[in-house]
Amino acid sequence: MSDREHEPYDVVGIGFGPSNLSLAIALEEYRTHGLENDLSALFFERQSSFGWHRNMLLPSATMQISFLKDLVTFRNPTSSFSFIAYLHASGRLPQFANNQDFFPTRQEFHQYLEWAQARVADRVAYGSEVTSIRLPPPTVPGLSDRLRLEVTDTTDGGGRVVDARNVVISTGLAPRMPEGTERDERVWHSSELLEKFHRMDPRELRRVAVVGAGQSAAEITRFLYDELPHAQVWAVVPSYGYSLADDSPFANQVFDPGAVDDYYFGTEQTREAFWRYHRNTNYSVVDDEVIRDLYRRAYDEEVRGARRLHILNLTRITGVKRSGAETRVSLQVGPDNEVRELDVDALVCATGYNAMEPTGLLGDLDRHCLRDETGRYRVERDYRIVTGPEMRCGIYLQGGTEHTHGLTSSLLSNTAVRSGEIADSIVARRSGHNAERAIPTKVGGDSH
Ligand code: FDA
Ligand code: NAP
Repeated sequence: MSDREHEPYDVVGIGFGPSNLSLAIALEEYRTHGLENDLSALFFERQSSFGWHRNMLLPSATMQISFLKDLVTFRNPTSSFSFIAYLHASGRLPQFANNQDFFPTRQEFHQYLEWAQARVADRVAYGSEVTSIRLPPPTVPGLSDRLRLEVTDTTDGGGRVVDARNVVISTGLAPRMPEGTERDERVWHSSELLEKFHRMDPRELRRVAVVGAGQSAAEITRFLYDELPHAQVWAVVPSYGYSLADDSPFANQVFDPGAVDDYYFGTEQTREAFWRYHRNTNYSVVDDEVIRDLYRRAYDEEVRGARRLHILNLTRITGVKRSGAETRVSLQVGPDNEVRELDVDALVCATGYNAMEPTGLLGDLDRHCLRDETGRYRVERDYRIVTGPEMRCGIYLQGGTEHTHGLTSSLLSNTAVRSGEIADSIVARRSGHNAERAIPTKVGGDSH
């Protein structure tokens, strides 16, 4: 490692997806309000430029949250970084309003995110992967007031070392493959879809299969069916059929900022109820529009008597054998777990994600981070990992806090408010007291 930068940053963010972008804006708004002008921040992102799940930017995919749940509005409705401000700057505000739709396409939301990141890009190092965080020798014996990060340049392999008083880890979800299934040029996880799809000659893709019954699986099945009009498309669906994502108004309250307090300060029983009753707002469920679109295609085929969309329900994959261009998928079908095999030219595993897991990055530092009786990190309400008393520096999590803060942990719904709370906490700890909130952080004021 070279180029040690001795002066510690007040905040170093690891990962620059929507969560840390929202934090960068919250910190920027402290500055533009004439507060905390000297608070230094730097964000590291391993991708060479901004990108939000680029491989799933499918032509007709829409957002799963209202445009009002953008990077800022729920924290600061007057922010110049809102989705509405972006539409105004793009000259599309009247057209958007005429469209009467709360749910923009993912492509449009991506353009919004790119527009927002360009305005804080001087605080972001792209092509920079943080590989470890550790404690440097303390400046005051017995007290650790800074963290040291090792960063690798993803283009030339060069290194950089920076110190920080606080780190905010926001490295995102980790793709999950079925057990024993390895990714390669013909076996893809949904997170790699467009990149791997475009590497292939579509004429070679005559038989494709998509595994899973979540939003990714349904969108990909529709995409492949439309892009490959000559191909047989199998959907390997573990349930009896795709089920609806509940986004009805009362259920949607689980994503409100106030629900974080209900979850965090609730009992084990309350938390369990959140999951038991409301898991179907997000996991293994699909938006109504996509379900109907797929069903319409299947029905049209029945009318025409020509079937190439095959929905294999009550089916799971149990293994994959690869040899050259051959891919043989083992399936377990139906209530009797009948074993079947399917030969395909490409297999897409839309089998979901594991929550963000910072243990690898934390390395040795992990022993200073306290865990609960089931081995999960203990996390303060302000998203800081609970550490031993010797640690004066802060390790904050944006993601990986479903067990403490609830369902919004991996989603965008609460990003604006959460990053505002983290910014407030960093500022308050720097000045050694609980600072009054200088800029609004919640819609509807504090709840509970
Ligand atoms: P995100 O994963 O976006 O960003 C993490 C970043 O960290 C990445 O850019 C990564 O490259 C970088 N990184 C990782 N390790 C690093 C390291 N060691 N050093 C440097 N950089 C590193 N939710 C929702 O509420 N509404 C929605 O509409 C959708 N839509 C949606 C579509 C698809 C296809 C998926 C897979 C998921 C969603 N989600 C969603 C959920 C999703 O988690 C959410 O939209 C955000 O991506 C969360 O933002 P983050 O910044 O936390 O993670
Ligand atoms: P997901 O909801 O976790 O779904 C994964 C699916 O894979 C589940 O149906 C799971 O079934 C199935 N599965 C796992 N292993 C399997 C196996 N061996 N055989 C057959 N099926 C198997 O994951 P996701 O669809 O990727 O969604 C993740 C997040 O991204 C969600 O928040 C979603 O809303 C979001 N997303 C948003 C958009 C958008 O904004 N347009 C697009 C895509 C995704 P079991 O549960 O039975 O294991």
